[in-house]
Amino acid sequence: MDLPCTVSIIGTGSYVPEKVLTNHDLAKLVETSDEWIHSRTGMRERHIAAADQATSDLASEAATAALADAGIEADELDLLIVATLSPDMFFPSTACFVQEKIGAKNAFCYDLGAACSGFLYALDTAKNQIASGAVKTALVIGAEKMSSFIDWEDRGTCILFGDGAGAAVLQAGGEGRGIMQSAMGSDGSLADLLWTPGGGTRNPISHEMIDQRQHYLKMQGREVFKHAVVRMAEAVTEALGKNGVSSGDIKCFIPHQANIRIIDAIAKRLGIVGRVYTNVEKYANTSSAALAIALDEAARDGTIQKGDLVAMTVFGGGFTWGANVLEWSK
Ligand code: UT7
Repeated sequence: MDLPCTVSIIGTGSYVPEKVLTNHDLAKLVETSDEWIHSRTGMRERHIAAADQATSDLASEAATAALADAGIEADELDLLIVATLSPDMFFPSTACFVQEKIGAKNAFCYDLGAACSGFLYALDTAKNQIASGAVKTALVIGAEKMSSFIDWEDRGTCILFGDGAGAAVLQAGGEGRGIMQSAMGSDGSLADLLWTPGGGTRNPISHEMIDQRQHYLKMQGREVFKHAVVRMAEAVTEALGKNGVSSGDIKCFIPHQANIRIIDAIAKRLGIVGRVYTNVEKYANTSSAALAIALDEAARDGTIQKGDLVAMTVFGGGFTWGANVLEWSK
């Protein structure tokens, strides 16, 4: 059932750290090549945070840009959610560190854990908080310092990820339909295909755990690939149906930026080739930040304009996946 109130994105922002790591740089670290990485993933380079930059620092830069775009002050925020799988610390939440950095002193703040799907899940959560009347203005951020959790000796994963952050400010009102209903799903039976098995309560920090490199991200890439294509394509179809929108009505599809071959396979399945936004070549997979950065770039470069319908889709560890549709009203 549709909640009565329209909720719109009134500003977006994003940030990637200065340092660029190219495929050629990676070829000096592990046995790989620019040709292999580009042909298998579409990636050319990724940005890597400085040693003294934590996830909340990246998130705060994106948040500041989004607030400026929205034309509001940080103390006008009632809710601040950070979607991340690479928090500054286990606790307190990265969102509380961001609150302090940007001065969002009137917001309540928490992190949301849905791996790479986090930004879309957080958008849906914030939208429903606003639509229910509980809060007026929310800031949703996807932010990751993946480089801290990557095994730089594993060529199967270290080539795939980058650091960055993206943010969106949400408010009730706006012309058009705003953020519409989402279609989301999860399958915990497949958790071991993409996870960081060490460092939590299942496998606590110990010398042995670290010697076994269990504190780094592990992935069975081929399996993840197959599920990502199927789930994202299904989720988009379900979200379009829920909102009474046809694929032909969508001006721009923004998928999770994990691999250009995944994106191309989804585009073919859905018949949307030519209307798909990608930036995976520049940033690689920034997990929960990827969709947020792509949305901000698509808005700023004029790919999406007032009145356009946009469909977004995500997939990540858990497994988690989802899609939503929104009418751009800025
Ligand atoms: O955010 C959501 C999570 N992530 C994803 O959605 C990623 C999903 N998976 C993928 O994008 C792809 O599966 C990868 C890019 C990770 C791998 O591509 P693939 O075409 O599935 O390759 P593969 O894993 O089947 O490996 C093919 C070969 C293997 O060699 P053998 O066994 O055929 O001799 C690998 O050892 O390529 C080898 N390989 C590499 N070679 C050069 C694996 N990584 C590399 C590398 N450079 N970096």
